Amino acid sequence: MVVGFVQEALEEEKFWNRQMAEHAQFITHLLDPTESGLIIKANNFADQFDRLELVAQGKGQGTTLGQLTRETITATRSFRDFKAAGTEGLLTCKIKSILIPLLADHVLREANHYLRILNRAKRNLQL
Ligand SMILES: [Fe+2]
Repeated sequence: MVVGFVQEALEEEKFWNRQMAEHAQFITHLLDPTESGLIIKANNFADQFDRLELVAQGKGQGTTLGQLTRETITATRSFRDFKAAGTEGLLTCKIKSILIPLLADHVLREANHYLRILNRAKRNLQL
């Protein structure tokens, strides 16, 4: 049973860390070049989730699943808050971007969905 939960958690974290990295990459490229502060933040999220994906693939050199999952939860919460603020900023025309608010809302929902998956893994495996 536990082996199944471990395998499931690793597969989910491989898949969703890649999705989060890709969201960060396209957000970087859809922001107006004058939004340099947000571009730097999005780039940092891309790097962070690229690294977490590698760890989930077993390239973490001694990182346990508990450490990976806890770090991923922290990163995903932070990225979720960034996406929520971004969606709000687009809707109120405070952020210059060719990103449509519907896509911003979509990636925000996926971050919340991923947080639910991570919290379930944390509970199932008592991490
Ligand atoms: Fe999606």
